[in-house]
Amino acid sequence: MEDKINRATTAPIGIFDSGVGGLTVAKEVFKILPGEDVVYFGDVGRTPYGGRSKEIITSFTAQDVSFLVEQKVKFIICACNSASSVALDEVSSGYDIQMIGVIEPGARAAVEKTRSGKIGVIGTHATISSNAYARFVHTIDPALKVFSLACPLFVPLAEEGYVDKKATRLIAQDYLQTMLDVEIDTLVLGCTHYPMLKSVIADVMGESVTLIDSGEETARVAHRMLTDANLLNPRTTEKPNLIGEHKYFVSDVPQRFSMVASRFLEQEIGNITRIDISRY
Ligand code: DGL
Repeated sequence: MEDKINRATTAPIGIFDSGVGGLTVAKEVFKILPGEDVVYFGDVGRTPYGGRSKEIITSFTAQDVSFLVEQKVKFIICACNSASSVALDEVSSGYDIQMIGVIEPGARAAVEKTRSGKIGVIGTHATISSNAYARFVHTIDPALKVFSLACPLFVPLAEEGYVDKKATRLIAQDYLQTMLDVEIDTLVLGCTHYPMLKSVIADVMGESVTLIDSGEETARVAHRMLTDANLLNPRTTEKPNLIGEHKYFVSDVPQRFSMVASRFLEQEIGNITRIDISRY
């Protein structure tokens, strides 16, 4: 595979996701690294990834990464939990460019937080059946207990803005009862969309359960990795008041992306371009 690695500090950070959900991760990156330029790719034309097979998710992920590499990014964040779980290791091994997914940062934070040793993980079918979070938790501490549960309905609820509706609360109560039954003390929000439903999930789980936002943890790890690799934009180190440029690319019509994105990011966005991902 051709290596087009960009080691310029001024190059953008690339972030990709199956669609709009990865903006919850991008939002954390914008907060912690405001001076960085960011190229975001949302595969809205083929979303969702979470109910698909490893083979399909891997081939989509390879195209997403290939697009970002063509954009000459210096570092890639796979915001999608499903792609991070089943595809990123294989795809990233073909490139000499640093890439991180959301699993390891989220799992590590859960290990650090738990006191009872009982951790819950919620995500899409692809993420949960891959067991990626549990596997990583057990590389750190095999004695910890991990309870995993797919909550696929949370994705459309978050996208439709059903964040504080009765229906969402009922579904959350129904899904999360098993987590309450096994008395976890830490719950990993293992899907891009779940931070949008944080307050309902927190209400259902109660005060004794700490919620881990994998996106927030990933942004922190990205900051550390860029610092260690001397890849921070000079704006970040020398002119902290300057804000970087954010460009968005999508694989289908941008209107719906723009509408949902403004809700996820709590601000209007422009600079959205449609691309043909099948070319990559
Ligand atoms: N971005 C996906 C994830 O975090 C959720 C949406 C989908 O299934 O594509 O797993």
